[in-house]
Amino acid sequence: MAGWPAAEAAGALVVAILAAAAGGAAGKTTIEPCAGADTCAALLGYTLYADMKVSEVAALFGADPRAVLAANALDFASPGAANRILPAGLPLRVPTRCACSDGVRKSVAVRYSARPADTLASVADVVFAGLASADQIRTANGLSAEDPDAPLDAGATLVVPLPCACFNSTDNNLPAVYLSYVVRVGDTVQSIAATHATTVTDISNVNAMGSPIVAPGDILAIPLPACASMFPNSASDYGLLVANGTYALTAGNCVQCSCGPGDLKLYCTPASLTASCSSMQCPNSNLMLGNVTAQSTSGGCNVSSCSYAGLVNGTIATSLSSGLQPTCPGPHQFPPLRATPIAVNQGSYLAPSPAPGAGEAGGDIPGFPGSSNVSPANGPSGSVSQAASVNRPHQIVALILSVALYFQM
Ligand SMILES: *[C@@H]1O[C@H](CO)[C@@H](O)[C@H](O)[C@H]1NC(C)=O
Ligand SMILES: *[C@@H]1O[C@H](CO)[C@@H](O)[C@H](O)[C@H]1NC(C)=O
Ligand SMILES: *[C@@H]1O[C@H](CO)[C@@H](O)[C@H](O)[C@H]1NC(C)=O
Ligand SMILES: *[C@@H]1O[C@H](CO)[C@@H](O)[C@H](O)[C@H]1NC(C)=O
Ligand SMILES: *[C@@H]1O[C@H](CO)[C@@H](O)[C@H](O)[C@H]1NC(C)=O
Repeated sequence: MAGWPAAEAAGALVVAILAAAAGGAAGKTTIEPCAGADTCAALLGYTLYADMKVSEVAALFGADPRAVLAANALDFASPGAANRILPAGLPLRVPTRCACSDGVRKSVAVRYSARPADTLASVADVVFAGLASADQIRTANGLSAEDPDAPLDAGATLVVPLPCACFNSTDNNLPAVYLSYVVRVGDTVQSIAATHATTVTDISNVNAMGSPIVAPGDILAIPLPACASMFPNSASDYGLLVANGTYALTAGNCVQCSCGPGDLKLYCTPASLTASCSSMQCPNSNLMLGNVTAQSTSGGCNVSSCSYAGLVNGTIATSLSSGLQPTCPGPHQFPPLRATPIAVNQGSYLAPSPAPGAGEAGGDIPGFPGSSNVSPANGPSGSVSQAASVNRPHQIVALILSVALYFQM
């Protein structure tokens, strides 16, 4: 923990406070100071409560379906990607933006349209998988102290506040993106650290935990090593941050950027998802975005590369660099992409209502500038967290909900 002595961590990252306990699980919320009105990139850890289309998950959070796949190193470029039906229990990382409001890092709220049989508790614990508590939703919507298990009016629009953290997009002075993770039954800080390739000490410091003990429903900020971008302030995708082993789409899905696995340098190439993209050729050169040429010379290897420099004034900015290196680089290694897991029993697809109805998301999410990433269609394997077992009561509620929905149709 070189960079973060405990005292500094405690001072800078402040305290985890207990949200008022709603029906049992008290959620820990990390309060992070910030300045200005900037937003930063963050991830939400979301576990599917039912078989759901990629587009439905994305709509819940106001995200781009391909961006969601890219953030999980799933094959976002394959045809029909947004309509795949993902299996219940799948853990996903959903890219989001974290706002700064009144000097505090603030969740970006999403809007959710209540369905028949929804209650505050089911929206909080089932639909949003514990990312918000019934109390937080109640407060965010100025609702009176009603029973969290009382049915909501179908069609009513709720604002759902979601947790996020950025901590300067660094951890131990290295670029990091923070995942808001809801602790599940059976988790320990050790198991969470192992699953996310971090350490108990790091998680404890980041979350200012006195002792490394968590309870189901707690929300932890987990730092993931990431590739940072160096775009100018004027770029609309300024601050783009991509977690190791994953992809992001940007510039209106014209550019895909990946991070890792070998080094943590952002690497961007044209994405073949959209037809109308501005030129991606470096000025005064025949190199295209992502091209690297290497030439052995007596002094070493002359390497020239054409890199992405952000979306500036609606134009894809590129930058050409060349220099001598001791040895010539091999071909670029991309993080492996996994095939999208598909719900086993597609015939019994009872999931939420079709995309627009299920959760109309996102009023407040200033969609990640042209988010989403495409990657080369590489093989499987990958780093996404393991599917953890779904908490039983939730499973049951999810089933009841699904059945209820089924009969509504
Ligand atoms: C934020 O990170 C930058 C480098 O990425 C560093 O220069 C700056 O001091 C950091 N600020 C804080 C408050 O940690
Ligand atoms: C990035 O991910 C790769 C593959 O998952 C891993 O081998 C490497 O150690 C990771 N890098 C860091 C800095 O965590
Ligand atoms: C340059 O990049 C373009 C776009 O990614 C690619 O089609 C082309 O094959 C690359 N050329 C070289 C020489 O790497
Ligand atoms: C490296 O190659 C580039 C383009 O091929 C050229 O412009 C540059 O002068 C070369 N640099 C050296 C040090 O040879
Ligand atoms: C972007 O556009 C603004 C005005 O529209 C202009 O002032 C600025 O110089 C432009 N920036 C670049 C990098 O072209």
